[in-house]
Amino acid sequence: MSEREFDVILMGATGFTGRLVAEHLLRRHGVGGQLKWALAGRSREKLEKIRIELGETAAGLPLIVADSHDRESLDAMVQRTRVVCTTVGPYALHGSDLVGACAANGTDYCDLSGEVPWMRRMLDEHAEAAESSGARIVHCCGFDSIPSDMGVWFLQKQAAERFGKPLERVRMRVKAAKGGLSGGTYASMLNIVEEARRDKEVARVLKNPYALCPSESRKGERQPYVSSAEFDPVFGVWTAPFVMAAINTRVVLKANALSEFAYGENFRYDEAVMTGRGFSGRMKATTVSLGMGAFALGAALGPTRSLLKKMVLPKPGEGPTAEQRESGFFKIAIDGRNEGEDASLRVSVSGDRDPGYGSTSKMLGETALALARDLSADDCPGGMWTPSTALGDKLLARLQEHAGLAFEVVAS
Ligand SMILES: NC(=O)c1ccc[n+]([C@@H]2O[C@H](COP(=O)([O-])OP(=O)(O)OC[C@H]3O[C@@H](n4cnc5c(N)ncnc54)[C@H](OP(=O)(O)O)[C@@H]3O)[C@@H](O)[C@H]2O)c1
Repeated sequence: MSEREFDVILMGATGFTGRLVAEHLLRRHGVGGQLKWALAGRSREKLEKIRIELGETAAGLPLIVADSHDRESLDAMVQRTRVVCTTVGPYALHGSDLVGACAANGTDYCDLSGEVPWMRRMLDEHAEAAESSGARIVHCCGFDSIPSDMGVWFLQKQAAERFGKPLERVRMRVKAAKGGLSGGTYASMLNIVEEARRDKEVARVLKNPYALCPSESRKGERQPYVSSAEFDPVFGVWTAPFVMAAINTRVVLKANALSEFAYGENFRYDEAVMTGRGFSGRMKATTVSLGMGAFALGAALGPTRSLLKKMVLPKPGEGPTAEQRESGFFKIAIDGRNEGEDASLRVSVSGDRDPGYGSTSKMLGETALALARDLSADDCPGGMWTPSTALGDKLLARLQEHAGLAFEVVAS
């Protein structure tokens, strides 16, 4: 890529999660050092306020005014940088032109989208442009879906080394997690429900586990799905549906398709939350399932959706406190096996902050840095990738060294 003024431009720093990403980049690289980076947003006044709040070390940080709905300002911005890192969401409402600008201008891109129908639209509209310009477009660089995408990639890498072949039945289970959700995340979830109600095509995309795969591999093996309280014989515990499964499973299946089925042609994958053993495990699983069902129903019905927005849920810009983020964490287990064979392997993925914000902001920051600093055009051509298929080992090292994540083999 030709020389550009910046390595990374962070868009969305005036919002809840973007500000945490800015704090991470500032802690890691300061301002005026080797990493050339800038903050972008639609209001200079707000950007100046955030820069002051970030403290004295941020004083020289360049600011760029660009609006998500003004393509000219986006083209001018993305031409100045190697990588754009964006937390401007809901992405389906505010993100499309920025993906288009990056794909057209050969600028690498990473985000926190978990909005499957929107990502499918971006794939259909911009994959060709990204392939010809050399732009690496990487969605889902936060809690959804880095632990799942990188965790399964890590498991399969170990399996290839130990058994010389992939493990085709993989289960991801959330063992424990502590954290909360921000207004922006709720806004994105409610927007998907609203779009699915309005548009049958969106509802259809949401149901297809292969929705994010390249067009030639949008169907395959019937995928398992934990949709209610279920006993898991492999882990020996009760499980409940996991709220992020409908995103993560699509990303993991996309990674398999992009890696020429490195996880197997008959790869099957599901995700769930562990709720424990015995009667209390079963009761917890039932309560979680009913709670998720009630939220989905409340979000789908007009009057309750308005009530949720106005009275119950945090507003855009709001989210878990610093204390909640510091005391948060997550631990997940991923088990792989081939049915009818002895070969099996289990890995763990853990994070040292709350999943959605403390950990997510570090994951996104490190993905942006990996794109800017670790990746040549030979390593990864332009296109629409997942974090593992674009960055593999390079991202693994950064996540473990700088984002508080640990990937470990726990049993084989
Ligand atoms: N995948 C994950 O694990 C994960 C975790 C956390 C968050 N997220 C996602 O990240 C996104 C952000 O969440 P959040 O809680 O940080 O949201 P937020 O606090 O509401 O922040 C949204 C940001 O978008 C900016 N924005 C809105 N419209 C814009 C426009 N037209 N032009 C330029 N900027 C615009 C806002 O700028 P102003 O200040 O000017 O309004 C603000 O900086 C959501 O989509 C959420 O779902 C994902």
